[in-house]
Amino acid sequence: MSDLNNKQILIGISGGIAAYKTAELVRLLIKKGANVRVCMTKAAVKFITPLTLQALTGNPVATDLLDPEAEAAMGHIELARWADLIMIAPATADLIARIAGGHADDLLTTICLATEAPLHIAPAMNRVMWDNPATQENCKNLQQRNITLHGPANGEQACGETGAGRMLEALELAKIIEAEFASQAKPLAGKTVLITAGPTREAIDPVRFISNRSSGKMGYAIAKAAKELGANVTLISGPVALEAPEGVHRELVESAKEMHRETLKQAKSADIFIATAAVSDYSPANVANQKIKKTEDKFSLALNYNPDILFDVSHAFPDLFSVGFAAETEDLIKHAQGKLKRKKLDMIVANPVGKDQGFDQDTNQVEVIWQGGHISLPEKDKAELAVEIMSIVSQQFNDK
Ligand code: PMT
Repeated sequence: MSDLNNKQILIGISGGIAAYKTAELVRLLIKKGANVRVCMTKAAVKFITPLTLQALTGNPVATDLLDPEAEAAMGHIELARWADLIMIAPATADLIARIAGGHADDLLTTICLATEAPLHIAPAMNRVMWDNPATQENCKNLQQRNITLHGPANGEQACGETGAGRMLEALELAKIIEAEFASQAKPLAGKTVLITAGPTREAIDPVRFISNRSSGKMGYAIAKAAKELGANVTLISGPVALEAPEGVHRELVESAKEMHRETLKQAKSADIFIATAAVSDYSPANVANQKIKKTEDKFSLALNYNPDILFDVSHAFPDLFSVGFAAETEDLIKHAQGKLKRKKLDMIVANPVGKDQGFDQDTNQVEVIWQGGHISLPEKDKAELAVEIMSIVSQQFNDK
């Protein structure tokens, strides 16, 4: 199925000779399953008839800001809201200037002001008009407002000159639109997410260790959800009975020190770090070479503090988006907020833990907390929860 299936695309056309190519763009988008509506400026209708575009899209073409019929239903607002994406092709120097100036003097510029949809612009004009500092300044202004410009291409122009000013071809613009929707569906495409999961084991002697009840289920579910958002995922896992999710690169470790070493190595190339592992805070000061014999009634074990992996990673890589988990048996939010601050994190996921809660369970309940935000996610399956947590992580990461 095409990425454009049922996508609502508004095509804006302003008055340039390249408007004839836009009919082909509309045909390509419709062939890929998109719902297309067209809005034309007064000048555009002199280059290509609304009837052509109406026949191609099966929808009436919008041209007038003050069309009494459309206005009864707030036509400009309705179209601005309807669109999942707006592409203006061709965009003349005049239209670019009006959008840059925030004008709302016709239907198309009004829609551009009233929309929250991604706005894409394919300029087309004479090469001298394109090079003019006024046009360049206007384009810079649009880019600063997250409006994306595509082209123009170099080549022979309708006016007989040669240079930059040709509108991109219909096929190129269709591919750009497809890529935009694909990246919306995969907001972590091209990003690397590093995740620690499971327990660590701290050896006492060759056959005994200190560990905890972590099953790795939460961390593995997070890894799977990150993969589904398009990320390259590396999972550094303590000993668990789970298979690595498909497409996820896994490094198996045993102790906190091994997890620390491997995580710091992998963090160099990561964009997001999520620490779901239940790392043992302490390890035996001395590991016996042979199995310890039962000689006394009492036996004490000296323990040393383990390195804090999350703390060390977030301090060594301040640009990395670092997410911690907080496992608490009391004062969940207060302790989690303390860890968020102390460990210099971008976000913390706090879960109440206890007997039959959090550790080694199929379900979990969490509070997702970041500077200026807090979302409570009620108890649900860890797989479902991971999808929601990763959606919040990717949104905050992309907003940062
Ligand atoms: O594995 P499951 O059975 O599915 O259970 C999931 C879970 C309950 C283990 C998980 O949801 C969870 O809460 N993981 C974090 C457990 C923990 O150790 O929390 P903490 O509050 O002690 O540590 C805070 C953060 O620092 C955690 O992100 C932890 O990974 C990290 N940390 C802690 C100590 C240490 N030496 N290095 C660390 O990186």
